[in-house]
Amino acid sequence: MSDLAKLLAASALLVSCGSDPRQWPDLDAAGVPLGPVCRSGNYWPYGERGDNHMHPGRDCIGCHTRSGHGPVFTVAGTIFNAPHEVDDCFGYDSDTRNHTAAEVQIVDGNGVAFTIIANRSGNFYTTYPLRFPLRHVQVRAPDGSINEMFGAASSGDCNSCHTRLGTVSPLGESPGRVTMP
Ligand code: HEC
Ligand code: HEC
Repeated sequence: MSDLAKLLAASALLVSCGSDPRQWPDLDAAGVPLGPVCRSGNYWPYGERGDNHMHPGRDCIGCHTRSGHGPVFTVAGTIFNAPHEVDDCFGYDSDTRNHTAAEVQIVDGNGVAFTIIANRSGNFYTTYPLRFPLRHVQVRAPDGSINEMFGAASSGDCNSCHTRLGTVSPLGESPGRVTMP
């Protein structure tokens, strides 16, 4: 597909997402309401165009690895506003200039502490060499409150486990998205 065709296909999708959010289920398999599908109301419209804000919620490291394109991240993912928001929905608006910056704080397998500041689509990423599994992972809001992962993260591909509906891994069931505290 040409780049233009991709862009058109992506914007067609964008329009249908905006006009009919109910194309996504409202309830999980147990009948529990999933909450907002996209609190920001804005979606990534540019398909595969390489960008810091691309594909919030999708599997960053997996796609870059499979496609052989894009930076080789050690850790990457997205902070969302709600636990079950959909792929390509812009997540938490983290902005250092507006004092709304959210951080992902990590202690790696060697005990090295490392902090990543998320961007305005909620995406965060680094190519810094870290040792896995990560011993501690937490999201820190601008007010200092914290949302901490209990287990050690075996990989830095946060969104591969933190999908919209969550995944089952050796660590247990992920609760859906990485969210603000
Ligand atoms: C479906 C595939 C896919 C997914 C998912 C994906 N990317 Fe990419 N990404 C790419 C491709 C392809 C490129 C290279 C584009 C190019 O070279 O023009 C790229 C490039 C990038 C770049 C480099 C931009 C630049 O200026 O050169 C960044 C940063 C990036 N991706 C971040 C992310 C983050 C963060 C995520 C997850 C939230 C993500 N990507 C998810 C395919 C993907
Ligand atoms: C192998 C799958 C997996 C990976 C990779 C992973 N997580 Fe998790 N995450 C989980 C599971 C399972 C839980 C729930 C149990 C727990 O807290 O350990 C969780 C819980 C969390 C929580 C607490 C959620 C809550 O609402 O209480 C946060 C925050 C979190 N993860 C952030 C991250 C970040 C950031 C990354 C990437 C550095 C990451 N996770 C990578 C599986 C994963």
